[in-house]
Amino acid sequence: TDRPRVLSGIQPTAGSFHLGNYLGAIRQWVALQETHDAFYCVVDLHAITVPQDPAELRANSRLSAAQLLAAGLDPERCTLFVQSQVPEHAQLAWVMNCLTGFGEAARMTQFKDKSAKQGSDQTSVGLFTYPILQVADILLYQADQVPVGEDQRQHLELTRDLAHRFNTRFGDTFTMPNPYIPKATAKIVDLQEPTVKMSKSASTPKGIVSLLDEPKASAKKVKSAVTDAGSVIAFDEANQPGVSNLLTILSALTDTPVEDLVRGYDGKLYGALKTDVADALVEFVTPFRARTQELLDDPETLDAILAKGAEKARAVASETLALAYDRVGF
Ligand code: ADP
Ligand code: NA
Repeated sequence: TDRPRVLSGIQPTAGSFHLGNYLGAIRQWVALQETHDAFYCVVDLHAITVPQDPAELRANSRLSAAQLLAAGLDPERCTLFVQSQVPEHAQLAWVMNCLTGFGEAARMTQFKDKSAKQGSDQTSVGLFTYPILQVADILLYQADQVPVGEDQRQHLELTRDLAHRFNTRFGDTFTMPNPYIPKATAKIVDLQEPTVKMSKSASTPKGIVSLLDEPKASAKKVKSAVTDAGSVIAFDEANQPGVSNLLTILSALTDTPVEDLVRGYDGKLYGALKTDVADALVEFVTPFRARTQELLDDPETLDAILAKGAEKARAVASETLALAYDRVGF
């Protein structure tokens, strides 16, 4: 195909993805299938940079893949796979480790933040070299574009630096990846604390919408979301973050521009908005849960989809690795 190639990964989550994951990332993945040659991986190698229970890790990888399929990824239109099933990731990562300066890796701010929280004896060397595994993830597929949030920019810069370094030292081998900035990526905030991002690590149960929760429970959370003083429904993230968040969610779930929504609420109260968000959410999560459950109830089919994805991924990854190994002198 002559479509640009895109690569993106997501960590296997314990339990359910949340509404922020869906509206901020997974929904874009679904859209990119139509315009790009898309490779998506559940990055279980990245997950073990912190301790994992083996049975839980295996279950979480499958659960994550099932949710991605339920959200609309189509194995006929994209390549969806589990990272550990493509051994070339770890193989290329070693080469890239050997091209990276120690100080260069030590400057990664995400590592500094995470390790500062854990203390150095709890921090694995794997967490230190995690960005270099990401470099391999991207370069293996000769990706033209990588969707990146603010917190990933530095890692993409490292990828570009290492691609350039390898190409200069050993001859042209890797495609230089560019950031892909989606047109409108919704940033969803906590329902109870609308000044902070909805996040599995930071949100309280009432503030986060888990996609696999009972739809009624999620609707209830929306209806008890913290809104702002006043009563005018306006999109104003600084002064009305709670109401703005609900408008963002409704806009994304119903594919309606925020301005159109705001116009429709002229003269109405917050309760009307909350009811509409709750209804739209229930309409989305009800079939999403059913599809996820269907996939989990049929492990042979799910495994076959992932095995086929890994095979498609390996066809590309093994070719890149063979070339890189040859260039290095293996
Ligand atoms: P969490 O912040 O809950 O730990 P991750 O860091 O695993 O979630 O993020 C997985 C994907 O979901 C990333 O692409 C991230 O940018 C996106 N994402 C996470 N939280 C939000 C949010 N509140 N709003 C929009 N996108 C989000
Ligand atoms: Na996070």
